[in-house]
Amino acid sequence: MADNNTQSRSVAVSLRVNGVTHELTVDPRYALADVLRDELALTGLHLGCEQGVCGACMVIIDGEPALSCLTLAVEAQGREIQTVEHLSQPGSELEPLGEAFIKHCAFQCGYCTPGVLVMARHILDKGIGHDREKIREHLSGNICRCTGYEPIIDAIVEVSKEWKVK
Ligand code: FES
Ligand code: FES
Repeated sequence: MADNNTQSRSVAVSLRVNGVTHELTVDPRYALADVLRDELALTGLHLGCEQGVCGACMVIIDGEPALSCLTLAVEAQGREIQTVEHLSQPGSELEPLGEAFIKHCAFQCGYCTPGVLVMARHILDKGIGHDREKIREHLSGNICRCTGYEPIIDAIVEVSKEWKVK
């Protein structure tokens, strides 16, 4: 009975993720984060609070950071979604940032790191990666319990020197 109910509520969605279009059938109540992780096996994003507080689930939608735990999959139709997998694959634009994170010990447990990397990329694209105060402001929605943020900021500032603003 429960399965029938779920089946009857399912809707077709077309999601464009990391440059690939996926045709899926999902429960309209499903968050984008769940669909990315469970249906598309894009498990780089983390689910922490699931209430829009921690930032661990951050992705880029149409060029802007978005919390995938608060975005319904159906809302993301027709939009360009990028996940941390795409942004940080070898040879990608985020590879230098990953290296800087290692150099500056900008992560410990790593739970926040996918969301922080996504926000760091946005900060660099905005051309404010040299400004420690603005970085701090932008990271206010990314909770990190381990690093105290300074190593993360150091890594972003270092990469900003070579970063080409789009
Ligand atoms: S899991 Fe989305 S903001 Fe915490
Ligand atoms: S590295 Fe542990 S929460 Fe940020």
